[in-house]
Amino acid sequence: MAEHHNTRTASGGATTAAARDGSPLENDAGSNGKPAVHLDGVWKIYPLGRTEVQAVRGVDITITEGDFATIAGPSGSGKSTILNLIGCIDVPTRGAVEVIGHHTSGLSDREITRLRHEAIGFIFQSFNLVPVLNVFENIEFPLLLGPKPPPRSERREYVDFLIEEVGLTDWRTHRPSELSGGQRQRVAIARALATRPRIVLADEPTANLDSATGSAIIELMKRINTELHTTFIFSTHDPTIVEIADHVIRLKDGEVIENSRRSGSPD
Ligand SMILES: Nc1ncnc2c1ncn2[C@@H]1O[C@H](COP(=O)(O)OP(=O)(O)OP(=O)(O)O)[C@@H](O)[C@H]1O
Ligand SMILES: [Mg+2]
Repeated sequence: MAEHHNTRTASGGATTAAARDGSPLENDAGSNGKPAVHLDGVWKIYPLGRTEVQAVRGVDITITEGDFATIAGPSGSGKSTILNLIGCIDVPTRGAVEVIGHHTSGLSDREITRLRHEAIGFIFQSFNLVPVLNVFENIEFPLLLGPKPPPRSERREYVDFLIEEVGLTDWRTHRPSELSGGQRQRVAIARALATRPRIVLADEPTANLDSATGSAIIELMKRINTELHTTFIFSTHDPTIVEIADHVIRLKDGEVIENSRRSGSPD
């Protein structure tokens, strides 16, 4: 799987996000780009006492590499379940989940761990930072978990680049308790990017933030998406945030009710 590791450098890999503004949304989410994620006939059914909850019901979606995609929908519509399936935190009851060309059901536990480490970064609603570590150490943390951590000087250089990217240079040695909610979410974004993943999954990354801070966080994710060409998939139920996405997948009761991709999106 090493060949799938994202080796783009900090400065390289930037692509154009050309002329996407004002482009109409297409209704079949068509694209010629390479798929980052593909869900084929995916169901997720949770047992609940003597009955069951059909959290995801026959979802077919493809998200293209480099997209800034959102999964929108009301509470309980299946957003977190789908992100957990893409992130290999959960397995589908039926159907197939493919992540950068890998059929996740065909992978061993070890291969899943590796795919998650190398290809996927997570941003959570509640930030999930380690309270005793400072900003630098929180961001560096995922780099120490892999089988071959990069040398210290390389880690330092990339972590400092990420700290600058998310605008926290002055807070480098602060602990999470000394940061605002928006600053904590910036740390979480930088941490998700530490292993240079191809895909970043964010489950309601703005839910615990006021709307101005939430918009700034989404703008930051969008800028990183454009600069580093990282695919972002984030869930939200905030309609104003949906507008910035290249690809909108709207769910209702576990089903896709809208799947539209901006025609000007990069392929
Ligand atoms: N572990 C579980 N066991 C049983 N039911 C579950 C489980 N996880 C989720 N569900 C149910 O599946 C459905 C979809 O839940 P999910 O968390 O994906 O929704 P969501 O769109 O993320 O909602 P929210 O906006 O509130 O976060 C809900 O009806 C939920 O109660
Ligand atoms: Mg959720």
